Amino acid sequence: MKFLQFSMLLPPLVLAALLSFPMRASPHKDFLLCLSLRSNDSTSISNVIYTRNNSSYSSVLESTIRNLRFNSTDTPKPLVIVTPSRTSHFQATIYCARKHGLQIRTRSGGHDYEGLSYVAKVPFVVVDLVNFRSVDVDAENRVAWVQAGAILGEVYYRIAEKSRTLAFAGGIYYTIGVGGYISGGGFGLLFRKYGTGGDNVIDAQFIDVNGRILNRKSMGEDLFWAIRGGGGGSFGIVLAWKLILVPVPATVTAFSVSRTLEQNATQLILQWQDIAHQLPDEMNPDVTMFSINSTQDGRKTILPSFSSLFLGTIDELLPIMQQRFPQLGLSRQDCTEMSWIESILYYNQLQNQPLEILLNRTFQTPVGGQYFKIKSDYVKEPISETALNGLFSRLSDEEASSAIIIFMAYGGIMDRIPEDATPFPHRAGNLYKIYYNVNWQEQDNVNSQKYIDWARRVYSYMTPFVSKFPREAYANYRDLDIGSNNVKYASYAQAKIWGRKYFKNNFNRLVQVKTKIDPENFFKHEQSIPPSL
Ligand code: FDA
Repeated sequence: MKFLQFSMLLPPLVLAALLSFPMRASPHKDFLLCLSLRSNDSTSISNVIYTRNNSSYSSVLESTIRNLRFNSTDTPKPLVIVTPSRTSHFQATIYCARKHGLQIRTRSGGHDYEGLSYVAKVPFVVVDLVNFRSVDVDAENRVAWVQAGAILGEVYYRIAEKSRTLAFAGGIYYTIGVGGYISGGGFGLLFRKYGTGGDNVIDAQFIDVNGRILNRKSMGEDLFWAIRGGGGGSFGIVLAWKLILVPVPATVTAFSVSRTLEQNATQLILQWQDIAHQLPDEMNPDVTMFSINSTQDGRKTILPSFSSLFLGTIDELLPIMQQRFPQLGLSRQDCTEMSWIESILYYNQLQNQPLEILLNRTFQTPVGGQYFKIKSDYVKEPISETALNGLFSRLSDEEASSAIIIFMAYGGIMDRIPEDATPFPHRAGNLYKIYYNVNWQEQDNVNSQKYIDWARRVYSYMTPFVSKFPREAYANYRDLDIGSNNVKYASYAQAKIWGRKYFKNNFNRLVQVKTKIDPENFFKHEQSIPPSL
């Protein structure tokens, strides 16, 4: 009866959504009614609600699913997707989801490696920030207010419109959402010079479980600390960040040198382990490894590529490399000069494309839009030749034909920022991070388990050679293998298993912050910070 009473007041779109469901009471229907009644302007909110009967539901849901493993017919789907265009829409959604027992999953760019921003095993609503993506650059004061639903490409593009010598310490793949990127730390081309994304945020706009809109001052330093690296989806919804813009030279240089194992690559990696973390802060050296068929005898070999961006010209780079890493034999032909913004195109394999491509949030980057499993490790002591050979042998397995392993050098400013400056704890003492990526194509998705098992075997093989007590991992490279909450009854003891790997000793402070801001644990997922009991 309640429904009939209110139906006269409802805007047509909400009414249609409600009528398309059976008339018996359901949290879903009650949620929609609540949204409509709770909203000051019910027409505006009805334009940003997508139920399963809406013809745009699938395209909105799939628009930013980056890991296609979580886009199958048996992947649990949200009852409703809300794409707020006003802060009051967030407030109404949080209020109504709490009232009617629905979980919220917040999505900015949809790059979560385990799909936690759009998949849940309980009835849930996705809040997608696609309409919350303005970027306001103040080049004079070197800051920018960026709404959390913007992708990094939009941020880079808007900065470049104002200045070619300012940048943000963002990630490489430009379709990553600013919301999730900074929430989990944020690691990119500039991180050895300027730190993580979270190190470069000076204010935020945030909505909590009670619908309060907070900024740095009103949320207090503890919560402001927690949201800059403590992992997305735990504390509330970040609406916007105020970013520090950092100086970059007019010309930067990218280089890449590839050598097969037959061309002495193993010795180069052994040397790289000692040298890379001590190279100038203006570089981000890494080694990317994958298997290829050898041109010599057609058998498999490994092709490591040694590369880096350098904040400067070729003429400045060459003497540094000749002095510090002569064994690599870097030559002018291996190097390409460009502007900072062009380096983003370069690393996304979009050279010669117009800059406007960075505004295209649905574009599939070379490594996006696939089926994949990711893992990460931190290395504190150089790995021996024997251990490396074991890794190469696994990279030659049949399941690894599309796998990539990357060693990413640490050092630089990461050695000088204290471990507790933000929740991201992987600072001094790390030689490099390892990124394991095994991916496959749609036609082979029936065999997904064999690829996932391969990743687990390699991870297990690497145990003696990487960080211990805890075995550290990067929060933004989400990996549910390292531990997961019981979604209904998250406990400190259970969460500590994965939490210490991502956050080390910062985990306890994150729990304290969570206990204050969301004691009933409304914002939760398989790896969210639990409140203390
Ligand atoms: P998504 O929307 O999926 O959110 C990720 C998590 O944050 C979820 O838990 C979500 O609920 C939460 N969240 C999202 N928006 C929020 C908000 N506004 N408020 C609160 N919580 C929010 N990382 C890196 O550091 N450097 C890199 O170069 C790359 N490269 C890369 C390439 C590709 C192809 C992928 C798929 C991923 C990466 N990553 C990465 C990892 C990436 O940084 C990580 O997945 C981020 O969490 C993605 O943020 P999105 O907003 O895109 O994800």
